[in-house]
Amino acid sequence: MKFDVVIIGSGIAGLWAAKYINDNSDLSTLIITKKEVWDANSFYAQGGVTMALDKEDVALHIEDTIKAGSFHNNKEMVEILSRSSLKLKEDLKNYGFKFEGVTREAAHSVPRVYHAGGDATGRELHRFLIKKDKSYLLDNASVFDLLIEDGVCYGVSLLKNNKKYNVYANNIILASGGIGALYKYDTNARTISGDIQGIAIEKGMEINDMEFTQFHPTVFIQSKFSQKLLLTEALRGEGAWVVDEEGKRFLFEYDERGELASRDIVSRAIFMHQQKGHKVFLDVSMFEEEYFKNRFPTIFNKLRDYDIKVPFEKIPISPAFHYFMGGIVVDVNAKIKNFKNLYAAGEVANTGVHGANRLASNSTLECFVFGRKAARDILKNRFKTDERIFDINDEILFKENDKKYKNMLREIMWKNVGIIRTKDGLSEALDFVEKHIDKLGRLTKLRFLTAREIIKAAIKRKESLGAHYRKD
Ligand code: SIN
Repeated sequence: MKFDVVIIGSGIAGLWAAKYINDNSDLSTLIITKKEVWDANSFYAQGGVTMALDKEDVALHIEDTIKAGSFHNNKEMVEILSRSSLKLKEDLKNYGFKFEGVTREAAHSVPRVYHAGGDATGRELHRFLIKKDKSYLLDNASVFDLLIEDGVCYGVSLLKNNKKYNVYANNIILASGGIGALYKYDTNARTISGDIQGIAIEKGMEINDMEFTQFHPTVFIQSKFSQKLLLTEALRGEGAWVVDEEGKRFLFEYDERGELASRDIVSRAIFMHQQKGHKVFLDVSMFEEEYFKNRFPTIFNKLRDYDIKVPFEKIPISPAFHYFMGGIVVDVNAKIKNFKNLYAAGEVANTGVHGANRLASNSTLECFVFGRKAARDILKNRFKTDERIFDINDEILFKENDKKYKNMLREIMWKNVGIIRTKDGLSEALDFVEKHIDKLGRLTKLRFLTAREIIKAAIKRKESLGAHYRKD
């Protein structure tokens, strides 16, 4: 099988890239997704898409993004991101997508997060893009290798129905998302496990900002599924309070912005308060029931399943892993350094827009903006690989104890490479990874490779910055 463009991942970055290519050329596109097409992080985005309100708001959006990112951002990329948001708004409108309103999320100076479907913006966008998609789709297919020689990627190796295949391509876009499954508590889709980053590391691609892992402050972690229920920032943006068992709004002891401080600060404050023995809740009792049900239907219904009667009852919360700022380094065209035809867009990439801590709902925007950049560059260059056949990587993909080690990794990443880090804790995590990495099946080994780089980067950065907090 050979396609003009193979896209790994069926989230917004991949779908938007595919749409541009399909609308503007007759190139063949294949989207490969690990499970079902909706098993992507952007499908679960609740808050929305950040877009500058108008030309005048661009400067403030850039400022908010850079402040939230602890000034570690790539300014040029942030400017591209924000300016492109105006065009994106036009494009989505022209394609017939309707947002239902604009809300505020933490660390935004003004409401500029566009939402749809109440708290189901990601789902609505995803459904809209899938309906329009003209690509071939290969689902339930796990990519376990990239076919690379001399700065050219010739395709991917994947597992489908227990059989290994090579699929060849002229251009490849990695849009496979982040690393949620590396942590015990996370809000990510079940498929998001850092394995493509592992391949990138193995192949020597440049990675950056690996120490910056973002924890969302308000997550209901008591659900039985590995994907924990996010309680969107828009709740706090629209007035919800974070309180302890005595009803005290303790966040103000940590930051004068209280509930509206950036995500890293709020997560840390909640975590520290919990460590002092307090219980922490989200109080949404200021919302009328009818309003809450319509504005936040996903949260309303899911919590009712757990017998929590919102908005009347407080929701027990904890921070949980949410988003990875690190990733594979790309240029302004979303192209991976030193490659002729390999791109990365969305959470798997490191564009530098998020700095050390992502501003709320900038990630969906990044998926759109850099997904399209990759697509445009492919159409501009029309790179063609020569005909070559690769042997399929014969490493064993699964081994007997993989599950046990995956779970141990999740525990140690949460405990030692989480919200608050120390040299000893990080060293213990690194020892654990080094000790076990060579006994694993390939797919688990790829996760461990990614985890190892996260830990090493966290050890290397001795000072606290953004989402990376060193107690010592
Ligand atoms: C949220 O709705 O709180 C999540 C949005 C984001 O991840 O930026």
